[in-house]
This record gives sequence, structure tokens and C-alpha cells, in this order.
Amino acid sequence: MKYFLDSAKIEEIRYAFDTFGIDGVTTNPKHVMNSGKSFYAFLEEMKDWLKENHLEGKERFPVSVEIDPNFTDAKDMIEMGRKIAALSENFVIKIPCIEGGVTAARKLEEEGIRTNLTLVFSPAQAIIAAKNGSMFVSPFIGWKEANGEDCRQYIKDISTIYDNFGYKGKTEIICAAVRTPKQMVDCAVAGADIITAGLDVYLDSFKHAFTTQGVGIFCDAWNNTVTE
Ligand code: E4P
Repeated sequence: MKYFLDSAKIEEIRYAFDTFGIDGVTTNPKHVMNSGKSFYAFLEEMKDWLKENHLEGKERFPVSVEIDPNFTDAKDMIEMGRKIAALSENFVIKIPCIEGGVTAARKLEEEGIRTNLTLVFSPAQAIIAAKNGSMFVSPFIGWKEANGEDCRQYIKDISTIYDNFGYKGKTEIICAAVRTPKQMVDCAVAGADIITAGLDVYLDSFKHAFTTQGVGIFCDAWNNTVTE
């Protein structure tokens, strides 16, 4: 199970990497806007951070970067995808799972540029993503569960389909927009390859009342023991 951080804030990325060793990053236009940086300034900052941490390279630390979501034409998406990919081998081109997006992902993958088909809300969309060779597929969890849907079967179905047709290991399932530690666990049990979530979700996952209580109990014992 890999953990990606869903953020474009370099200080959050640094903290998550140093504290609990995240395996990659996902971003979207909202995250880039919230970083307070321009799109290309963020990419440059990300490149510097990758270099600083010796994480450069195609097989290492993928960073999903979303193309302009206004594009509907595959040609525009491919052009922007190529431009982003030329900046760093770590950059994975994130594209909405719409008609033009699926075509663009296939063409970019044929050129050796990795893609992540995003805004996936059904197993049917996940099949299309895998059939077209996308390296990652991002089924959204939080949005569906906020709408009253339980996502366990949804992820299980995608995982089963990928197993049945040999897509497992070729297209990795990134459970995206994960909002709670319970959703993280549900996705892991259901067959996700990767979770992507905000820093707050990961930090919440470290917390348990018994852990806090236990640390207190052991501190009392330690403090009442001769340790020299
Ligand atoms: C995932 O890859 C997306 O960046 C993200 O999860 C989108 O959803 P959110 O911004 O509502 O969390």
C-alpha cells in the first residue's frame, strides 16, 4: 500500500515525507490555487524539492499534475501533457476521465509519458482507463460517501475487474479524495494500491485514545522507576 499526499503546499509535502515517508504526491487545480503559487512556479518548486531529496527519476516519487481542465480536445491535452512531462520525469499527467481525456492518456502513454485518469466515479470509467493504458486511475471516495454511497464495493469491483482482465499491476488504483482514516482502511481492504489524502487525514490516522492513554500510563511507570 502506497501513501500519496494530496497537496501542492511544499511545506506539507516536506513534512509528510520527513515524518511518515509518503510515496508520491497528487495535485489538482484547487491545490495549486491554494498553494498561492502560479502553476509553473509550483512545478519549479516541486522539481527543486525532488532534487534536494534525491527523488528524481521516472520510477521514483510520482507527482500527478493536472492539465488545464478547460480542455476537452485530446490535442490540447496532449500538448500540455508533453510540456509538463518535459519538465520532470517525476511528473504524471493528470487528466479528467472524459472522452478527449481517455484518448490523450492513451497517446501520452504510447509516448512513454505516464498518466492518471481522474474524476472517476464508476467501475465502467475505471475499465476505460485501464484499457487505454493509463498508469493510474483515481476513483474518488469522499465525494461519493458525502453523497451517502458506501465505497467499499465500488473499489472491490474495480480491483476484481483489474484482476480478471490482467490490468492489476499495470494500472494502479489511487483511491482519491479520501477524507477519514476509516475510508483509508476501507480502501485498503477493498484492494486499493494507493491512497491519496490531505495531511490532516494522515495525522488523524496516527491518533487513538488508547495510544494517548497508554503513553500516559507508561510515563507514570517510567517516572516512578529508577532507571540508572
Ligand atoms: C485526487 O487526486 C484529487 O486531487 C483530490 O482528491 C480531489 O478531491 P478533493 O480536492 O475534493 O479532495
